[in-house]
Amino acid sequence: MKKNYRHSSFVFLLILLLIFSTAFSIVSVEARKHHTRKSEIQHKHRKRQKNGSGNKATNYSNSPSPAPSPTPTPSHGFYPTQSPIFDILSFGAKGDGVSDDTKALEAAWEAACKVQGATLKIPEFQFLINPLTLQGPCMPNFVFQVDGILLAPPKVGSWPKSSLFQWLNFKWIHNFTIQGTGSLDGQGFNWWKLSQIDYFKVMKQSKSIPDMKPTVLRFYSSFNVTVRDIKIINSPQCHLKFDNSKGVKINNVTISAPESSPNTDGIHLQNTQDVEIHHSNIGTGDDCVSIQTGCSNIHVHHMNCGPGHGISLGGLGKDKSVACVSDIIVDNIILESTMYGARIKTWQGGIGSVKNISFSNIQVSDVRVPIMIDQYYCDKYVCKNQTGAVAISNVKFNQIIGTYTASPIHLACSNSIPCTDVDLIDIQLKPSRNYRGINQMGLCWNSYGKSQAPLLPSSIDYCVRNGSGFVRGISRSHEHVCS
Ligand SMILES: *[C@@H]1O[C@H](CO)[C@@H](O)[C@H](O)[C@H]1NC(C)=O
Ligand SMILES: *[C@@H]1O[C@H](CO)[C@@H](O)[C@H](O)[C@H]1NC(C)=O
Ligand SMILES: *[C@@H]1O[C@H](CO)[C@@H](O)[C@H](O)[C@H]1NC(C)=O
Ligand SMILES: *[C@@H]1O[C@H](CO)[C@@H](O)[C@H](O)[C@H]1NC(C)=O
Ligand SMILES: *[C@@H]1O[C@H](CO)[C@@H](O)[C@H](O)[C@H]1NC(C)=O
Ligand SMILES: *[C@@H]1O[C@H](CO)[C@@H](O)[C@H](O)[C@H]1NC(C)=O
Ligand SMILES: *[C@@H]1O[C@H](CO)[C@@H](O)[C@H](O)[C@H]1NC(C)=O
Ligand SMILES: *[C@@H]1O[C@H](CO)[C@@H](O)[C@H](O)[C@H]1NC(C)=O
Repeated sequence: MKKNYRHSSFVFLLILLLIFSTAFSIVSVEARKHHTRKSEIQHKHRKRQKNGSGNKATNYSNSPSPAPSPTPTPSHGFYPTQSPIFDILSFGAKGDGVSDDTKALEAAWEAACKVQGATLKIPEFQFLINPLTLQGPCMPNFVFQVDGILLAPPKVGSWPKSSLFQWLNFKWIHNFTIQGTGSLDGQGFNWWKLSQIDYFKVMKQSKSIPDMKPTVLRFYSSFNVTVRDIKIINSPQCHLKFDNSKGVKINNVTISAPESSPNTDGIHLQNTQDVEIHHSNIGTGDDCVSIQTGCSNIHVHHMNCGPGHGISLGGLGKDKSVACVSDIIVDNIILESTMYGARIKTWQGGIGSVKNISFSNIQVSDVRVPIMIDQYYCDKYVCKNQTGAVAISNVKFNQIIGTYTASPIHLACSNSIPCTDVDLIDIQLKPSRNYRGINQMGLCWNSYGKSQAPLLPSSIDYCVRNGSGFVRGISRSHEHVCS
């Protein structure tokens, strides 16, 4: 299977290359054809610059290389001394936070995409942008520099019904960086107000209310992407999402939304491999980092999380679906006032496996339940009992230290497939001053593995039964759907 993956990604790369080179030759011809037209447009831009009024941001003499290059750089000619800058203001953006600057961003993207090492600049003004897909492939080393504020449309009704999945969708891009001191503001407050009940009530009354809520920033089918320094705030739902991607670095980002905002995940990964997330601060109304099926080789470290629901693998295996998650390292995390700490959640009846997971050096304060495996995950009041489960094995909880408000640990493993090789090492958890629980011993069911002192409360020594669990001779054959 591994070989197959590699093979298919190779084929995919080849296809990408083919599309890319074809597109490039077309683009070159087009560029020559439309050279005159482009010069005209540029001329217009310059005229507008001179006008001055009507655009408070107009000082192009500041810009190191203001005019967008009309011709794409030849693929072999790389000029390292010059990083072409494509400023959104040069493409007709108003930057007043009220006018619709979507067209300007699209135009800047089109132009920058064709030039190697281009920087698309969002300067320190506010730009109202409608939902938009920015598509690659682009020339390598593309930097999207956000120093200003990009604003999503604030009214729920003003979102086109066809674009509710996300606000900014980066698709088919590789070797790309988004960075800067600015922010992406999802202006989600009107969406949060639609509580679950209101939501369905309004939906029934009026067809104009959508049944999904957008993610602020999504990368789809993209490779070698870096997200750093920026702020992503107030998403209607998820803030930063990667799906079907590979090679992701997220560094020094700040993600925030009020604790009361429903379902506002910080970072959400699905079917994505080779990811490093570090030195970032995330406080929202839902998961800090959410790792879903198809994810492997993920390293999350040196993060501050809270408020929210902590770091989660899953929910996996919903509606008897296949889930495969492996090779996850989570270390050096500070969690404050979150619902959970380190958590794995699966639905009953799922197929597949979660394996080789390590949570270490996790500091918790006022966390409801710091350690959790829940194989009975259910988002309703009660869910049907089902046999079969996503198998969980080789999970290490090492140095989980601090205070809890409800229970130190909750390991509820499947009746049909127990959790195996679950190790508890150096766990030191005390009830906080805000303790409101009833069970300081926690709950442990059907988990096997080993424990190693120090363990506090000492009762959790009994949480993991000696042995691998394999002794019960349970068929785990369905795990092989993942390998
Ligand atoms: C130039 O400014 C005037 C008002 O001072 C305004 O009416 C006009 O639309 C502006 N032209 C452009 C191209 O921005
Ligand atoms: C425009 O930029 C130039 C060069 O940086 C600077 O000298 C000038 O003061 C600026 N003008 C305004 C109106 O900001
Ligand atoms: C893009 O590729 C260049 C050259 O291989 C590398 O220096 C740079 O770090 C890459 N950027 C990303 C975001 O992967
Ligand atoms: C991503 O980066 C890795 C390592 O730098 C490189 O081997 C790979 O070819 C890159 N993939 C793409 C699609 O840029
Ligand atoms: C983190 O990002 C902020 C901008 O949001 C920047 O000012 C700061 O220098 C960055 N820190 C590091 C270590 O890169
Ligand atoms: C477990 O995951 C880590 C991190 O991805 C990896 O380095 C290691 O090789 C994996 N171990 C096994 C036995 O697969
Ligand atoms: C599921 O099984 C548990 C334990 O056997 C039982 O307590 C519970 O009532 C069952 N739930 C349903 C919905 O059947
Ligand atoms: C656990 O099992 C191993 C091997 O089966 C045995 O050597 C060890 O003494 C057992 N530990 C406890 C605490 O029962």
